[in-house]
Amino acid sequence: MDKLITTGGVPLQGEVRISGAKNAALPVMICSLLTEEPLTISNIPHLHDTTTTMELLAQLGVKLQVDEKLAVEADASEVNNVVAPYELVKTMRASILVLGPLLARFGRAEVSMPGGCAIGSRPVNLHIKGLEAMGAKISIRGGYIRARAGRLHGARIFMDMNSVTGTENLMMAATLAEGESVIENAAREPEVVDVADCLNAMGADIRGAGSDEITIRGVKRLGGGAHRVIPDRIEAGTFLVAAAVSGGEITVKDVRPQQIDAVLEKLREAGAAVETGGDWVRIKAPKKLKSVNIRTAPYPAFPTDMQAQFVLLNSVADGAASVVETVFENRFMHIHELRRMGANIELDGNTAVVRGVERLRAAPVMATDLRASACLVLAGLIADGETLIDRIYHIDRGYHCIEEKLAQMGAGIRRIPGNYLERVMPARAGAGAAG
Ligand code: EPZ
Repeated sequence: MDKLITTGGVPLQGEVRISGAKNAALPVMICSLLTEEPLTISNIPHLHDTTTTMELLAQLGVKLQVDEKLAVEADASEVNNVVAPYELVKTMRASILVLGPLLARFGRAEVSMPGGCAIGSRPVNLHIKGLEAMGAKISIRGGYIRARAGRLHGARIFMDMNSVTGTENLMMAATLAEGESVIENAAREPEVVDVADCLNAMGADIRGAGSDEITIRGVKRLGGGAHRVIPDRIEAGTFLVAAAVSGGEITVKDVRPQQIDAVLEKLREAGAAVETGGDWVRIKAPKKLKSVNIRTAPYPAFPTDMQAQFVLLNSVADGAASVVETVFENRFMHIHELRRMGANIELDGNTAVVRGVERLRAAPVMATDLRASACLVLAGLIADGETLIDRIYHIDRGYHCIEEKLAQMGAGIRRIPGNYLERVMPARAGAGAAG
């Protein structure tokens, strides 16, 4: 397995361009299943998860063409398979998003139950409950969700929990249902709005996306079209924290500042100077960061996907702060790794109390989930010495060229291909694996 080696102590300088949002690109590509006309999607980030999504769509019979700018034309006119197999779904939970579109257009779908993941059990009961409210007959057998329906009909659906993919799955299904659907307590994330924008460009009739009540009037069919995926607000936030903790000054470009207001406010509270423009954010780190209390919650509150990065920020800030994770039940695994680097963090249920230390120390660490791995990379950029980060396939799922983007801002970071380490540094490789 590849590893990353970072050398700490370099303040980041310069500019970085943000890629398309993973959590918008995945559902937008899946929207192609809802029409027999080609849908062209641009600004797709080049990530394991986007590749996996293309593999899944191809297995269903979608014809995909990728141009030199990585824009993808998806043509679902000859879809001949409605089964999303365990082998693919187990590597990417977002595969559950094909359930609604397949059911809405073909009246049948068999999707493997997505297992839990490192950060939580990740149930899909709300996806199933909403589709049943629209008339689907759904059973779970042999680890697969087996769904059948005539034409789905509109329904008023209340989401007990705030689920981004749950909202997206039901919104996609409702576009072809007979009559009107209302999704109450809908997720308000910008990625949900981006999916709604794409669907409306395809001829859907969706109102209220971005609020907690979304109304969808079903239409007989959707057309093709073209859609450009929004920038990745979490990638942007991650680089801003990297500049803040490394004592640097950077400009993040191709971002929508209003989508990360909660993060920018916390960076200002931590003492950073933050300026924003139409599509850019500039940050200048203070001499010493101040600890900031964090409580994650659904958008527009502070995003859970930025929690690990702010635990790191608090680890080297002046003072003590609490970080409360309210969305996922097990999203503190980065803390065990940060402690190996000398961080002073106490865990009590869903609350971490972080007391700032002068410097972190390099140590072999192991990534456990996508955002935790980003936090460890940033920790390696500021720790004394060389940090070896193992299991970085997690980071490759969600960050497009992270080492290149960090290196061009001056960071000391390089990727070591897995087999190289085993050959030339077996002891080191072993230590990394044990880390
Ligand atoms: C999306 O997950 C993102 N993934 C996550 O990003 C992100 O952390 C999360 O939204 C919150 O912003 C994608 O968009 C692909 P959930 P989502 O599993 O909405 C409960 C990353 O790092 N729930 O729905 O799919 C669940 O237990 C990833 O990019 C139910 O109870 O998250 C949890 O408490 C990680 N029943 C909450 O809702 C359901 O049927 C959200 O979990 C569905 C969800």
